[in-house]
Amino acid sequence: MSADPGKTRPIAVSLHVTVLGTGAMGQGIAQVTAQSGHTTRLFDAAEGRALAAVKAIGAQLEKLLTKGKITGDQRHQAMNRLSAATDPRDACAGADVVIEAVPEDMQLKVDVLKPLLEVLGPHALIGTNTSSLSITELGARLGVPERTVGLHFFNPPPVMELVEVVRGLSTSDTTIARAVDFAKGLGKTPIVVRDVPGFATSRLGVILGAEAMHMLEMGVASAEDIDRGMELGYRHPMGPLKLTDLVGLDVRLAILDHLTKEIGDQFRPPAILRSMVRAGKLGKKTGEGFYKWVDGQPVAR
Ligand code: CAA
Repeated sequence: MSADPGKTRPIAVSLHVTVLGTGAMGQGIAQVTAQSGHTTRLFDAAEGRALAAVKAIGAQLEKLLTKGKITGDQRHQAMNRLSAATDPRDACAGADVVIEAVPEDMQLKVDVLKPLLEVLGPHALIGTNTSSLSITELGARLGVPERTVGLHFFNPPPVMELVEVVRGLSTSDTTIARAVDFAKGLGKTPIVVRDVPGFATSRLGVILGAEAMHMLEMGVASAEDIDRGMELGYRHPMGPLKLTDLVGLDVRLAILDHLTKEIGDQFRPPAILRSMVRAGKLGKKTGEGFYKWVDGQPVAR
């Protein structure tokens, strides 16, 4: 089931939220938090990217306004709650909730978050949007395991209803309760899962995508027909190859590599995936993956 990205969500408390990393996920998450009434600061290490994300959110809200899904006042208020910071310490000062949405690399996540702990108050929730990496390891390496929690959103965040709340070995009950309340306040449905590689969703999702790639390598059917099979035969909103394009081939490869190491060979990435990533064909964000993407829509290659 999809969430309505224009739905008004009553919130109990307006929080200060910081989103670190403004790729598709960070940008979408920031849109959701700002629309839900939270003051939202964005930071990205690439110069100008956080500001570009704020502008892109403005364009998304404009579309919702045109469709009559939000009012002009709601758009205005959401935009007023959003800002782009050029220094991550400024972005994090006084934050109640931090959501890290940088690429799937444990060392990078530690490097980004660790220096910010000193400007984050002791009450700040440390959320990570990782799809598969260990919350337990991240919390331990940051030295704040009780406050570290997985807040796993789904692409596109304004539309997808689920938030997977991942409990590390030492995540406290208070942190889990706060994370669940926070997700509900965003109009999402949270599920609480144990910290195992790939959690409850990525583990199943990537297997389907990888199998579709093996079938493509074997010439079982074209990419479009493999997708059509799952769309029409199983009522998936989007076939597994189109979905891989939406999520990003690099993201899926990183998850599969991690799960191969942690769980076993059933997650070994198909050769076609690795070579497409090496060729820079990362899906929708680069304009080409298993499809060509023209004006945001998939076209058969
Ligand atoms: N931001 C905001 N809204 C968006 C959007 C975006 N990026 N993309 C689509 N929408 C909105 C559209 O505006 C449209 O809204 P209206 O109904 O108000 O017009 C609505 O979503 C439906 O969009 P479309 O009509 O363009 O197309 P669609 O009906 O095919 O839906 C889709 C698009 C919602 C993406 C749908 O195909 C879908 O649900 N696909 C599966 C997505 C999915 O499985 N995501 C999870 C990926 S895994 C993941 O993210 C986890 C991870 O860790 C990697």
